Amino acid sequence: MVCAPLLRHNAPNVALPLLITGCKELLTLRGAVPRRGAAMRDPGLLRDGAVLVRDGNIIAAGSRRRVARLSEARKAKKLDLGGRVVLPGLVDSHTHLIFPSSRAGEYERRIAGATYEEIARQGGGILSTVRALRRAEPDALKSRALAALQQFAAHGTTTLEAKSGYGLDLKSELATLRLLAELHQEQPLDIHSTFLGAHAVPPEFRGHADACVVFLVETLIPRVAISGLAEFCDVYCDRGAFTVPQARRILTEGRAFGLVPRLHADQLARTGAARLAIKLDAASADHLEKINRADIRALAASNVVATLLPGCCFHLGLSHYPPARELLDAGAIVALATDYNPGTSPTASLPMVMSIACSQMRMSPAEAIAAATINAAYSLRRHMRLGSIEVGKYADLAVFDVEEYREIPYYFGVNHCVMTIKRGEVVYARDEI
Ligand code: NIG
Ligand code: FE
Repeated sequence: MVCAPLLRHNAPNVALPLLITGCKELLTLRGAVPRRGAAMRDPGLLRDGAVLVRDGNIIAAGSRRRVARLSEARKAKKLDLGGRVVLPGLVDSHTHLIFPSSRAGEYERRIAGATYEEIARQGGGILSTVRALRRAEPDALKSRALAALQQFAAHGTTTLEAKSGYGLDLKSELATLRLLAELHQEQPLDIHSTFLGAHAVPPEFRGHADACVVFLVETLIPRVAISGLAEFCDVYCDRGAFTVPQARRILTEGRAFGLVPRLHADQLARTGAARLAIKLDAASADHLEKINRADIRALAASNVVATLLPGCCFHLGLSHYPPARELLDAGAIVALATDYNPGTSPTASLPMVMSIACSQMRMSPAEAIAAATINAAYSLRRHMRLGSIEVGKYADLAVFDVEEYREIPYYFGVNHCVMTIKRGEVVYARDEI
């Protein structure tokens, strides 16, 4: 079957119910939310499963024999997946979706020995993307993002968080957030927006980070909040970026305006940003490469999602990955995301991120899947509608052409996602299915 990807508007399917069968393995991820500890290892697997969908929502999920006997199922349209492995649609809870161009030149410089921080200090890195975005044609930005969204869908992602943060002035930040809102409306994947005005100190505030914080707090945050274009507020809090006191001020002000905090934390150095995330009851603390044992215990005792982005270590060629095993064993809520961005993680593939997580951080395949579905949904505060295949949730599904779910991370670097369904609509299908 061939279907034009990503063309439909986000309208729920109001046609006949749809009965989906041929799920050799149906990973429901049903049960406790968020997932911690041993619960991460139970994907709620059903063999020969079926899903019944009405108006874009799941109205039954279980064994084919039971679901197919329901009266609604008998009059439903039928979709036989032919014995595939079916997951909840993947949830990518950390992306920088809008940027104008790659930074392949920096990639080559890093391979030759320059570090990410050296390049940033010389005016490259985030600031080079900021300069390019401020000059970019809006249509070009939009087509690039649409192409990226097709890639996300082709790898099983049905919902994304997306950050601003390459504009850094009022006009370009609002334009980025407006573009995200437009994309959310005009194509089928759901996009939840985060204001990341504190991604770097822009050239107009060079050497005056505190003045930049005042600008963020007094001008950008109120304007963004009034626009209604963002739901979360994020800060890049790290060595060479914003400090913990600056991040506290920005996120506290954001929260006063109704923006839920998230944080880029402890990636390059241990600054105490993860601790700040806990104090602020942030939705998520992301990266966490440099956290220590006490931080791990504190995260485990909190409801802050530890969002790990191992694509960054992989792409930057670093050998020190976030301490996923320790976080999981301590009982933290662990999520995985791509961190799709031009500097540290230019990939739209959550399955590839799961492969890295399993091979490099010793997460089990079941843990990686829970981290990229139900726990990621929890970090976006959308777990009531997303992240598992259960009655009342959106019919968001990712279909993989593998024999069993462990093969999803096992076969790395090749895309085995053959179909993606968003609210009951096929938004991506590989020819051969
Ligand atoms: O999550 N570290 C900060 N932000 C991004 C990188 C952005 C960039 O280099 O353009 C990250 O890794
Ligand atoms: Fe990021």
